[in-house]
Amino acid sequence: MSRIIVVTSGKGGTGKSSVAAALGTALAKRGKKVLLIDCDWGLRCLDLILGVSGEMVFDLGDILNSDCEISKAIYSVDSVEGLFLIPAPTFTDADSAGDNLKRLCRALYNNFDYIFIDSPAGIENGFRVAVSPAQLALVVVTPDPVCIRDAERVGEMLKEYGVREHRLVINKLKKSVFRFDGTADLDKVIDGVSMQLIGIIPEDKNVQHSAVRGIPLQKGRACAAINRIAARIEGEDVLIPRSL
Ligand SMILES: Nc1ncnc2c1ncn2[C@@H]1O[C@H](COP(=O)(O)OP(=O)(O)OP(=O)(O)O)[C@@H](O)[C@H]1O
Ligand SMILES: [Mg+2]
Repeated sequence: MSRIIVVTSGKGGTGKSSVAAALGTALAKRGKKVLLIDCDWGLRCLDLILGVSGEMVFDLGDILNSDCEISKAIYSVDSVEGLFLIPAPTFTDADSAGDNLKRLCRALYNNFDYIFIDSPAGIENGFRVAVSPAQLALVVVTPDPVCIRDAERVGEMLKEYGVREHRLVINKLKKSVFRFDGTADLDKVIDGVSMQLIGIIPEDKNVQHSAVRGIPLQKGRACAAINRIAARIEGEDVLIPRSL
C-alpha cells in the first residue's frame, strides 16, 4: 500500500519540485519503490531534474484523458533504482482532470511504497486537484514573511480539501539567518505557520547543479537534510539540527 504525499506551498519557487525529486531519490535509496507524479500543469520540470526528458512520449495528461495505458506514462529514473516518474501534462487546464488523479492514485495504490505529488504553486484549481488524493502534505516554505503567510493559508486550504496531516519543510535556509539572530528567526518561521516541522534544508548549490545536469541530488548538506526527512517519513526518530 502506498503512502500518498503531496509537496506543496503557496508561493512559487520555494523548492517543491527539488524537494519532491530529492526525497523520492532518498526513499528509493532506502529500498522503497517510489513514484513521483509531476502535477505542475503545463510547466513540467521533474523530468529535467531527474534526467528522463529525452525518452518521454506520454505524460499525466494522456493518462487523465484515457489516451494511454497508465504503465505507458510511467518512466523509470535510470540512475536511481526503484524511482519512477509520471511527467506533467502539457495542458494547463487542471479542471479537465476532475477526480481522475484520485482514481489514478487508487489504481496505483498497491504498486508503490510512496507516491509523491509535486503540486503547482498557488491555491487555484491545479492545487486542489494535486492535493486532493494525498494523506500527508509537506508544505515547503522559505524563511521570509510572504512565504510564511501564504503557508498558513495553504494549511487552511489543505484541511478544506481533506488533507489532514501537514508538515512544514523550511528550505533554502541561509547561514546568515543564524549569524545575526541565532535561532530566533527560525522560531518565528515555525510559529508563524503553526505546523509541525519535519525538516530544515540549507541553501546548497548542489541542488541547482544536480538539476542542471539532470542527475538526482546525492551529495551535500541539502542532501543530508533530505535524508533526515526521509528517515522521519519512515517513522524514525531523527533529531532536527537547529544550526547549519
Ligand atoms: N535548498 C536549496 N538550495 C539551493 N537552491 C535551491 C534549493 N531548493 C531549491 N533550489 C533552487 O530554487 C529554484 C526553485 O526550485 P524548484 O523549482 O524546486 O521550486 P518550486 O517550488 O517547485 O517552483 P514552482 O513553484 O515554480 O513549481 C531552483 O533553481 C532550485 O534549484
Ligand atoms: Mg515546481
